[in-house]
Amino acid sequence: MCGIVGYLGFRKAYPIVINGLQRLEYRGYDSAGVVLTNEKGMQLYKTKGKVAQLKKLAENKDIHGNLALGHTRWATHGIPNNENSHPHVSSSGNLVIVHNGIIENYNTLKKELLTRGYTFKSETDTEVLINLIEEVKTTNNCKLGKAVQLALTNVVGAYAIAVFDVTKPDEIIVARLGSPIAIGIGEKSQEFFVASDASPFIEYTKDAVYLDDEELAVIKLGRAIKIYKIQDDSEVEPTIQELKLNLEQIEKGGYNHFMLKEIYEQPNAIIDTYRGRLLANNGIIKMGSVDNNIAKFLNANKIIIVACGTSWHAGLVAEYLFEDLARIPVEVEYASEFRYRNPVINKGDVVIAISQSGETADTLAAIKLAKSKGAFVFGICNVVGSSIARETDTGAYTHAGPEIGVASTKAFTTQITVLTLMALKLGNLKGEISNSKFHAYLQEMTLIPSKIKETLKISSKIEEIAAIYKDASNCLYLGRGYNFPVALEGALKLKEISYIHAEGYPAAEMKHGPIALIDESMPVVVIATKKGHYDKVVSNIQEIKSRNGKIIAIVTKGDTNVREIADHVIEIPETEEAFTPLLATIPLQLLSYYIAVMRGCNVDQPRNLAKSVTVE
Ligand code: AGP
Repeated sequence: MCGIVGYLGFRKAYPIVINGLQRLEYRGYDSAGVVLTNEKGMQLYKTKGKVAQLKKLAENKDIHGNLALGHTRWATHGIPNNENSHPHVSSSGNLVIVHNGIIENYNTLKKELLTRGYTFKSETDTEVLINLIEEVKTTNNCKLGKAVQLALTNVVGAYAIAVFDVTKPDEIIVARLGSPIAIGIGEKSQEFFVASDASPFIEYTKDAVYLDDEELAVIKLGRAIKIYKIQDDSEVEPTIQELKLNLEQIEKGGYNHFMLKEIYEQPNAIIDTYRGRLLANNGIIKMGSVDNNIAKFLNANKIIIVACGTSWHAGLVAEYLFEDLARIPVEVEYASEFRYRNPVINKGDVVIAISQSGETADTLAAIKLAKSKGAFVFGICNVVGSSIARETDTGAYTHAGPEIGVASTKAFTTQITVLTLMALKLGNLKGEISNSKFHAYLQEMTLIPSKIKETLKISSKIEEIAAIYKDASNCLYLGRGYNFPVALEGALKLKEISYIHAEGYPAAEMKHGPIALIDESMPVVVIATKKGHYDKVVSNIQEIKSRNGKIIAIVTKGDTNVREIADHVIEIPETEEAFTPLLATIPLQLLSYYIAVMRGCNVDQPRNLAKSVTVE
């Protein structure tokens, strides 16, 4: 979950790599570094902290050169400090590396290298790897590509690496196992770009090759790239893909933060998600990957959903959707638990993996496990061509566009949109939803984007509420039924970006413990929309009020009942109960956002987090 950028060509490499690192900072921001070569040799700058600090460090220094590698780190082995920052250099000073992932057997390899006289400046597994490559290169007297390939056959773990030899500045070697890496190809192979995703090079080229697991690429100026299988060195034909991404999509576009931009993008993102799938006027939901496997879904004994974090919350919403609308039993599993607990998966089970990034290590491992047990695995991802999208049997993209803020917003609502379409379709085909009701659902779905827009208009009111509670130490989120996962997601948003301790609970569970926390300083966010066990939730609100808790209630427009009891009400438009999560989530995202901004937190890059968790 670090970010890698590299450039080899005729342009100045430094600005390309630095800008690219800033675009990849969502992947980690504990430290940053860049290495360049020019006629004076190698120039290496690295520092604890963000890319902005690296830029400062490199100010007035020698930054010219046409070959560079850069790295932004999310620490795994060794604390974030200057020495542990990448790039790392081999003992001879000739080979340099940037690495994303974990070398699990680094300690054994390090001991072996120490006996051979290698010295280490950092505590990282990466410095071990570059010295291993050097050792293999010297012992076999071979080219760099061959040395990297041979060294990697001795490595256990996950990696995306880029390596070059300072004495041969016309070549970069790139390899991957479990962590993503994309290669951008300039015209006539006169320049190449390397990056953890394509965002650092989209203004330069639309031609990209995504390495598959266990592949190594030799990138040499003026020559087509060559790809080899790491295990047996056999050559593979590169598949060049045309990038659909554009620059505007990855810039802030006038918003103060990516998170706010992405919150506001939700109406359009949802339209992009259902475009071509939701044909409301024809009364049809068309989803190729579901249609082509319809028998598997209709005959499924159960659906098992695997995901992490916010995507897991989307999975919980899906549990309500599939069981309520299609009467298919669902289990929702944390991918990290599922993969290690010998789960019962039968041939007739359908596994749905949900992931914005498509790179989450635990979700990927859960998919591999499910496939090994014969399950049919369907992926719901946002990032096109990501590892999970490729590993699953089939799937549906959310088409939300790049999500750069570490806190997931539009990824969540677009995942729910895909899952809602699937549940509606299956419910109708199974006869659980009548045709007329199905048509009504489809029509209502087309109104969701405008209802979200309506909710976004009350952001100033939410900002006022945020100002009142910005100094809270704890916060409780309650919801029932479809709104229970929304409560969990609301609490996650608050804690991850504002560092306020927050918990989500099913409203009725409050009485079994959390009620003890309630006093006059405890804000409680209650989702009390009209459908969805409204009366029961109102009783829960009364119970909180009797203990002097402060109530922020999310209610259906026009509600007067809760208004009388709650300290603050935030209205959302009325919709089908099954669609409530798509609307109720919006004010919770805004509340967290404003509180975090008022507390001076780094909203887009919260401490200790990274956007895609590619290590377990
Ligand atoms: C949510 O705001 C977080 N960024 C995090 O929980 C995230 O949802 C989780 O890491 C899963 O990521 P994925 O969807 O890319 O698999």
